[in-house]
Amino acid sequence: MTTKKKHKILFVCLGNICRSPAAQAVMQQIVDEAGASADFYIDSAGLYSGHAGQLPDRRMRVHANRRGYTLDHRARPVHTSDFFDFDTIVAMDGSNYRQLCQMAPSPEDERKVVRMMDFCRVATRYDHVPDPYYEGAEGFELVLDLLQDACRGLFEEINNNG
Ligand code: 4NP
Repeated sequence: MTTKKKHKILFVCLGNICRSPAAQAVMQQIVDEAGASADFYIDSAGLYSGHAGQLPDRRMRVHANRRGYTLDHRARPVHTSDFFDFDTIVAMDGSNYRQLCQMAPSPEDERKVVRMMDFCRVATRYDHVPDPYYEGAEGFELVLDLLQDACRGLFEEINNNG
């Protein structure tokens, strides 16, 4: 009997308290609802380590909770070892993408870095997930709209292409 290897996805933003822990929860719910929990491992991390150990921003938790997501991730910084541990590393914006590409230990590892918004199927006029930290309620709602769209696309892409 062969055991299917889990596909490991790491979502990355700046602080790991707004966008990437929300993406982690959205993706986990898609995977769970598809009955594919055993086939995936999903985590998130930040390029700035100043919030390490913290729960997601309270505003992000409140908005996510209204859509049925519980955000209980504790923030942590991205490590070089993440490139060995994960198959796909998803950047929320262009700055995240460039920093992650610079961190990649090899060209092969750099190819693991992808942009979240490349998987959007509906909200195609955005090329990044806008940082909601200094925004109002609508900024957090927009983040969740974009993440629900893009995570659905990412899930389909991985299922179609392995
Ligand atoms: P995130 O949002 O990258 O989506 O977690 C931010 C959280 C904190 C800060 C910036 C963005 N900050 O500067 O502390």
